[in-house]
Amino acid sequence: MKIAVLPGDGIGPEIIAQAMRVLEVLRSEGLNMEFEEAPLGGAGYDAYGAPYPEFTQKICRAADAVLLGAVGGPQYDTLDRPLRPERGLLGIRKDLGLFANLRPAVLFPELANASTLKPEVVAGLDIMIVRELTGDIYFGQPRGMRVNDKGEREALNTMIYTESEVRRIAHVAFGIAMKRQKKLCSVDKANVLETTEFWKEIVIDVAKEYPQVQLTHMYVDNAAMQLIRNPKQFDVIVTGNIFGDILSDEASMLTGSIGMLASASLNETKKGLYEPAHGSAPDIAGKNLANPLATILSAAMMLRYTFNNEAAAARIEGAVKKVLAAGYRTGDIFEAGMKKVSCSEMGDQVVASM
Ligand code: IPM
Ligand code: MG
Repeated sequence: MKIAVLPGDGIGPEIIAQAMRVLEVLRSEGLNMEFEEAPLGGAGYDAYGAPYPEFTQKICRAADAVLLGAVGGPQYDTLDRPLRPERGLLGIRKDLGLFANLRPAVLFPELANASTLKPEVVAGLDIMIVRELTGDIYFGQPRGMRVNDKGEREALNTMIYTESEVRRIAHVAFGIAMKRQKKLCSVDKANVLETTEFWKEIVIDVAKEYPQVQLTHMYVDNAAMQLIRNPKQFDVIVTGNIFGDILSDEASMLTGSIGMLASASLNETKKGLYEPAHGSAPDIAGKNLANPLATILSAAMMLRYTFNNEAAAARIEGAVKKVLAAGYRTGDIFEAGMKKVSCSEMGDQVVASM
């Protein structure tokens, strides 16, 4: 199993180091993994002058899976848009065809008090957000800034989906729902936008192949409200790129800390990029304070989805649960009475309970 390791920027290298230690445990026991490191985002710009340099492209294209820390930092915000770290992330998604972004929002029972919502609203929460990742207004053409024929400056982006793009993400979402509670909610803005009215129509058509799945539809504004009001009504949510970007951040906060959430971005052959749902947290970078659990859980998702190794994935997740049950907490999930640990100490604990 060839794994490209992209630490990225900010806290990326620290959290990746801890995930690597956990994978190293499995490798020392005989799991066949080869790692190759490459820079992405600001690190790519610093090393090669591009956020997704050719060096990194080669390694990622040849790999079976990519493990990513995070990209971005204030020192890169003034660069030309095509050179910014975020473009590196969008570039690798498009380059590897990673159209299916799975963002689980799962509340570990030990962390029910870390949520800003009442424990009874979030206890037992287990939602899977399936976000389309390579289409929509993120990539639609035309886009850009220009001066119109009245001489005024204007800017535009294009929200667009092709039928095949909607079909393939719908199949992924129905497939996941089949392995869970068999409830799928498709989120759209079909009352206003043709793109998403079309989305809804295609999802309804794909649903014919999954008669056991209970399909519902929700407008995105209502979905944003329902996630706060009664999040446990959801099992799997499927939506487009921009709505999924927004709703997945919202859903992550239900669980108390975005520092706990893993994600997977898959292509048609189950090649995947695995990364924590959080960002590069420049404010705490280099201080050994970050929570490495989302990255460690992303490594578990990698074993599950790309390498079909459910046992190894479950073992990592079990180790994380044990560490939380034993009271170890990084600053972002700390509460009185618990044991506060650094990023590397959290890694120590997970490795020990492996
Ligand atoms: C995410 C991020 C990215 C996105 C940014 C950093 C380009 O917010 O992965 O959700 O908008 O997709
Ligand atoms: Mg986002």
